[in-house]
Amino acid sequence: MGERRGTDATILGVPLAHLRRDRTSVKWARYDPDVIPMWIAEMDCAPCPAVVEAVSAAVRRGDTGYAPTEEYAAEVAAFTDAEWGWAFDAGATTRVADVLTGVTHLLGLFTDPGGPVVVSSPVYNAFYEVIEACGRQVKEAPLGPDHRLDLDRLADVFAEVTTDGARAAYLLSNPHNPTGTVHTPAELEALARVADEHGVRVVSDEIHGPLVLPTSTFTPYLTVPGTERGVTVTSASKAWNLAGLKAAIIVPGDDAVDAVRRLHHFVTFGASHLGVIAQTAAYRDGREWLRRLVDELDANRRLLTDLVAEHLPGARLVVPESTYLAWLDLADLGLGDDPAGEVLRRARVALSPGPIFGSGGAGHARINYATSPDVLAEAIRRIASCLD
Ligand SMILES: Cc1ncc(COP(=O)(O)O)c(C=O)c1O
Repeated sequence: MGERRGTDATILGVPLAHLRRDRTSVKWARYDPDVIPMWIAEMDCAPCPAVVEAVSAAVRRGDTGYAPTEEYAAEVAAFTDAEWGWAFDAGATTRVADVLTGVTHLLGLFTDPGGPVVVSSPVYNAFYEVIEACGRQVKEAPLGPDHRLDLDRLADVFAEVTTDGARAAYLLSNPHNPTGTVHTPAELEALARVADEHGVRVVSDEIHGPLVLPTSTFTPYLTVPGTERGVTVTSASKAWNLAGLKAAIIVPGDDAVDAVRRLHHFVTFGASHLGVIAQTAAYRDGREWLRRLVDELDANRRLLTDLVAEHLPGARLVVPESTYLAWLDLADLGLGDDPAGEVLRRARVALSPGPIFGSGGAGHARINYATSPDVLAEAIRRIASCLD
């Protein structure tokens, strides 16, 4: 049975029964069918028609060989130029399998085995896994109480990890997963300054960049003055829900071009041809779809805010400025350090456990609100009733 469009031609209106029937990805495979899955960053969206068309046509033609990636790079650059006035040189980029693979290669370039990689916790849990998998060491410079970059703390940690002359990197989530914080140009400029003072390389993961909600404005790191030594990694995989169609791009700042050229060209073989075809179509022909999606996410954000206020008065929602992920402080609900575990057991709703996002995660959980308003309402009601 094929994928359905959302009800009333919405993108996020796909009924739960259809999702359960049609989806076989890890979001749906991990838990029993009575659980509402609101954990991993996959959207319950109808697919972007331009992507469906491009991938189906390629499979029908038997066009399933290896990927040339030049056109893909040019389309990403055309998209970032049109959206944010960021016209990078597509010829200086390197294409890779996915964002975390790109991050892995860059950490290998910019740090030494056992060397420090700084992150601002709580932060995307896979950052910890990637740093560990590369044999590097995580150093945390937690976000401030306002969930924004704490630049004094970053300066202290950068100084501390480089005192012995170690080469260090900072892994930025721009925008920030799990709080949805959208970093401002001034914050990014200050980050670049302190990073440069200590010789720290900034790797900016911008996978959620197209998912900044209408009340905020996204700033690509490399558009900010003083960021020339930085490198960005991005992909269409979050914004168009294409995690299964692998491709991503590494974009070096002007003073990082030579360093990134040292990556072996073998790394580019990881981008799959269907992934490149899908993402090229998304960037080129999926902008109107993306705009509608972001409007629906904005409506869901309002709905989530209202539902939490009405049904979970003891919870504090960090209202996200971007992404479809929201950070919930559930510490006052008496559910312990890992409220997601209790919520799963009692309410049969799967949230992402706060502690996996590092320091600052205890007592918290992350909710994925890229689903239909009905599912969102049902999930919050279930959580509320398990607290009675
Ligand atoms: C900030 C961030 N970076 C990277 C990824 C994963 O990207 P990829 O599948 O391209 O490695 C995610 C997925 O949720 C994410 O939230």
